[in-house]
Amino acid sequence: MKMKELLLFLSCVLSVSADGQHSDISIAGCSDSYGEHMYGLDGEEMAYADFNKKEMIYPLPPFIDPFKYVEGTYEQAVGQQQICKGNMQNSRKGMKDFPLERDAPSAVMIYTRDEVEFGEENYLICYVTGFYPAPVNVSWTKNKEKVTGSSINVPYINKDGTFTQISRLQFTPQLGDTYSCKVEHLALTEPATKFYEVEAFSQSDPGVGPSVFCGVGLTLGLVGVAVGTFFLIKGNECS
Ligand SMILES: *[C@@H]1O[C@H](CO)[C@@H](O)[C@H](O)[C@H]1NC(C)=O
Repeated sequence: MKMKELLLFLSCVLSVSADGQHSDISIAGCSDSYGEHMYGLDGEEMAYADFNKKEMIYPLPPFIDPFKYVEGTYEQAVGQQQICKGNMQNSRKGMKDFPLERDAPSAVMIYTRDEVEFGEENYLICYVTGFYPAPVNVSWTKNKEKVTGSSINVPYINKDGTFTQISRLQFTPQLGDTYSCKVEHLALTEPATKFYEVEAFSQSDPGVGPSVFCGVGLTLGLVGVAVGTFFLIKGNECS
């Protein structure tokens, strides 16, 4: 019996409205080593239970009108975890240690949040999707040295039942720096790593385009005025 090694993530989507409407979801899931309870709206994370801090976290940006779920939501999440773990054990017994489904991430992408300006604070995003079970581990390096201080959101369920997680690392782009995000998942024999190099063309460069347009436009305008004036004078002379 491989009971100890068996790891699974059961998830229940409590309410998903029809396509085209808003999608309000709640995820309660657990495994031997992980648990999640979160509320989402239209693909955004509204709130999740932080089982270390023992409270609900509202990771919404400051421009959103603040809101809170009712008192006791965190306690309810803790209760759901117990139910989930109980159900999982019963299912294991009942189904004679059923095999675990595993899907490696179907995509790992690395990109910056804002357009790159050298020396200006920005965020690197590592977007991981299409995996099951949750979660993935994401770690970062800068010029091959490990860096800390990144954050990752709780797994968000996709329409096909796989998960998405997004890790963020605050960074200040300096020419020549190389970053990497390393993704570990149960279904990957070795980590998937993506690299990001700060290159000269990373910087948003408006190039010569605008100056050329401006020069040509101004010249044409002035020529137009000159030609117009010429004919105006000529016209006046004739009459
Ligand atoms: C993720 O990290 C934790 C803690 O270091 C470890 O126990 C777990 O096995 C890792 N998961 C994967 C899929 O590598």
